[in-house]
Amino acid sequence: MEFEDIIFSRRSVRSFLERDISSDILEKILETGRLAPSAQNKQCWRFIVIRDEGMRKKIAFKSGFISKINFFIKNAPVIIVACANPSRSVNVNNQNYYLVDTAIAFQQMMLTAWNFGIGSCWLAAFNEKKVKEILQIPDKIRVVAISPFGYPKEKSSLYDKAVSTFAQSKKRQPLEKMVCYDKWNL
Ligand SMILES: Cc1cc2nc3c(=O)[nH]c(=O)nc-3n(C[C@H](O)[C@H](O)[C@H](O)COP(=O)(O)O)c2cc1C
Repeated sequence: MEFEDIIFSRRSVRSFLERDISSDILEKILETGRLAPSAQNKQCWRFIVIRDEGMRKKIAFKSGFISKINFFIKNAPVIIVACANPSRSVNVNNQNYYLVDTAIAFQQMMLTAWNFGIGSCWLAAFNEKKVKEILQIPDKIRVVAISPFGYPKEKSSLYDKAVSTFAQSKKRQPLEKMVCYDKWNL
């Protein structure tokens, strides 16, 4: 795909075929996370790749911020949990850049996946304590995001449609609402 097509066509995917992702493609996805920029090049991100079916189901059904809200990731052949070590990251203006660094790397991976026809969906609605318990993540590590990775079903599920409608996923604010020139004027 042309780079522009990747950006313009990308969407969050919440219904997946059970088709597996080859290790070659998965490695390429991970590699583009590895190459991401980070504050002072600290690379504080850490990724847990979950392929084991039992573990995937545990995350799908037991990691939810509210009950089983993340059930829809159960069919995705790969789930990646994006973590970070905040003590390895940089603090500037009282902002710890571990979230920024990890988000950039994870988004690079999601866009690479889309280029291979693989969908993903950034999840924030998880219970960090439960995720850490299930995956035995040390206390000092933060869980930044979770995403399923898998080939999209041709027809989106009702759940996918409902969430996209609720979030008005196709809507974006116009540029003039978010961009000003020379001084703050928004
Ligand atoms: C930081 C962040 C957190 C999100 N959390 C969730 C989530 O917990 N569950 C979910 O289904 N979608 C989640 N999303 C996906 C958004 O709903 C989606 O990106 C937005 O509606 C725009 O739709 P699009 O990605 O299809 O363009 C999240 C996205 C971001 C960037």
